[in-house]
Amino acid sequence: MQLSNRSQTRCSPAQPACDRKLTHVRHAYARLGSQFVQPAYALAPSARASARCASVYTNRTVMCQAASVAAPETVPATYPNVTPHIADRAQYEQLYQRSVTDPDGFWGDMAEQFHWQRKWDDKHVSYNFDVRQGPISVEWYKGGVTNICYNALDRHVAAGNGDVPAFLWEGNDVGRDKTMTYAEVLDDVCRLANWLRSVGVQKGDAVAIYMPMLCELPIAMLACARIGAVHSVVFGGFSAEALAGRIEDCQARVLLTASGVMRANKKIDLKKIADDAVKLCAKNNFKVETCLVYDNANAMPRSECAFTPGRDVWWQDAVADFPTTAEVEWVDSEHPLFLLYTSGSTGKPKGVLHSTGGYMVYNATTTKYAFNLSPGDVYWCTADCGWITGHSYLTYGPLLNGATNVVFEGVPTYPDAGRCWEVVDKYKVKQFYTAPTAIRSLMRSGDSHVQKHKRDSLQILGTVGEPINPEAWRWYHDVVGDGRCPVVDTWWQTETGGHMILPLPNVWQQKPGSATLPFFGVVPVLLDEKGNELKGEAEGYLCIKNAWPSTLRTVYGDHERYETNYFKPFPGYYFTGDGAKRDADAYYWITGRVDDVINVSGHRIGTAEVESALVGHNHCAEAAVVGFEHPIKGQGIYAYVTLMEGVEYSEDIRKDLIKAVRNTIGAFAAPDVIHWAPGLPKTRSGKIMRRVLRKIAAKEEDQLGDVSTLADPGVVQQLVASRQAALNPAGSKK
Ligand code: WTA
Repeated sequence: MQLSNRSQTRCSPAQPACDRKLTHVRHAYARLGSQFVQPAYALAPSARASARCASVYTNRTVMCQAASVAAPETVPATYPNVTPHIADRAQYEQLYQRSVTDPDGFWGDMAEQFHWQRKWDDKHVSYNFDVRQGPISVEWYKGGVTNICYNALDRHVAAGNGDVPAFLWEGNDVGRDKTMTYAEVLDDVCRLANWLRSVGVQKGDAVAIYMPMLCELPIAMLACARIGAVHSVVFGGFSAEALAGRIEDCQARVLLTASGVMRANKKIDLKKIADDAVKLCAKNNFKVETCLVYDNANAMPRSECAFTPGRDVWWQDAVADFPTTAEVEWVDSEHPLFLLYTSGSTGKPKGVLHSTGGYMVYNATTTKYAFNLSPGDVYWCTADCGWITGHSYLTYGPLLNGATNVVFEGVPTYPDAGRCWEVVDKYKVKQFYTAPTAIRSLMRSGDSHVQKHKRDSLQILGTVGEPINPEAWRWYHDVVGDGRCPVVDTWWQTETGGHMILPLPNVWQQKPGSATLPFFGVVPVLLDEKGNELKGEAEGYLCIKNAWPSTLRTVYGDHERYETNYFKPFPGYYFTGDGAKRDADAYYWITGRVDDVINVSGHRIGTAEVESALVGHNHCAEAAVVGFEHPIKGQGIYAYVTLMEGVEYSEDIRKDLIKAVRNTIGAFAAPDVIHWAPGLPKTRSGKIMRRVLRKIAAKEEDQLGDVSTLADPGVVQQLVASRQAALNPAGSKK
């Protein structure tokens, strides 16, 4: 079934949500309000910040401390070896003003550099962010016809840059590497595009991709884009069940995968997981018709893989003989480009849908300015293509800008904590982009791993995915960058498709821990719980007031959920799910999620997803999951579980519960702590008081606040008393 048709038929009709749903939403946010915002806003501004810092998530504490710890004068005002595309803050202000007052003109100019088979109409931006005015809709470059693959590859080859390296692939093991030029990548993309067409993939069809970080992963994405198919990449760390759910949701009949992969010393049998996923789909009456398998022989030769004739095809055998030219499918600017599933506050992940033209222009523009990127620069983003960062800032953004991209199969700590800097020296990397969790783990290994490598090619350091604590910022800046490189702390989301708030390098003064100012065309606002815009120095819910070109267009197959999640909480605004504060310099400090989403090593995980996986275990009666401070991961997963009547808690059950989460979601979502709870703190109406659970997990039971509504206050003491046992389970490795 064609994706484009399916989303049309399953989108909600043009009408505001029914009252029942509105009530549901109000209820949900009233809860957020009472948990996080109302008490804080009752305080005077200075007391407010510290009370909120002390009371909510760990990351918030960290970030708020940042405001006082990081005196701006300790950060260089300028970086002599970085000549930015934009001269200074005044020029930024000028461009920014134009971008928000004349988006048609500004984004029209930005789009000119790309190839459009047909130019967009005069008025090319139209959107509605207000549910009271009708359905939410966003359209950019209306009337325009283009193709992002053409712009990322063919355009450069046609301009005579076919010999420029597009990918510098660095394998898991030192010494395994490969270079692919733009022309070579285009050849491979065309071969694969032809193969996809040969198995019946058409414009609008979804294709699932479950692959390791080989060049073939971005190549697969580009091949889909070339023929107008919609790629749905599933991170290689997800379990069979999670993969199956994503395949079924978008009805992908074709799956691209690999035999296996080595991550550090660990072999991961991707084909086996993919086979299990396909079986699960079949159980639910959905047939994956074709499975193209890349023989990643170094990790797992094909002889070790199960093979289903008629369904499975070896990539190297099937694709190599197809021609190296493939006709481009020219698509409307609003044609869907990709789906990417992400966690929300309910159990089921959302298929975030991005479309072509707006995503292309925004993505290329943010990449250029965020990293001060010029064609031919050697740029390295360590993200996996299974996440949005790997889509926007590994695959599309750098290629659209004609850069040379390092694609890394391994992990930053293998074979030792100096690997990243060794690779930086090997390829003379100029821009390096990674997550705070990686920085913290490398920092723990000590400076010597860094200092034995030169790193003199580095000019810009970037971070993404979670708030960066000032200590990690400083280490990154002072040790990795030798104080010579600005740190670009980029705040954005799967839903935003591209950077939203970030310090443009060497354009204005950084403050460690602050994402600083909005990108062109983005109007962030802070709202109080009633939806009033807060002015000046303030702290509140971070919302966006206007549509930017890569706004998510819908939640695949469920436009109503899209409206409910992002636009109904505060009518007229896109709600990010994050809290933030704005300081006297108008800089934004992201304080973390205000919903039931936790951010573990930069991976977004819905607490409800983990709870549902735990409750799926036949001995588990109830589960409540919260985040807690983790020195490396930022946040860890702390799960309280109540077992079925008559079942006794044991080490075996603890391990089994963790296994249940690994099997249902993936190893990266495995709880760090399982706390056996004969009872959970609930209100008399039966609602679990997560605030209390967070405090107990954080060892802050002295700050429980008002617990007078608890049905059984004794539960709290019981949980405090049993915490030590949960943190140090008998028989665990620690
Ligand atoms: C968090 C990742 C603070 C935030 C690109 C957001 C950040 C969620 C930052 C999106 C940052 C991302 N500072 N927090 N620089 N970047 N976040 O969809 O909570 O995986 O809502 O996209 O990560 O995560 P996602």
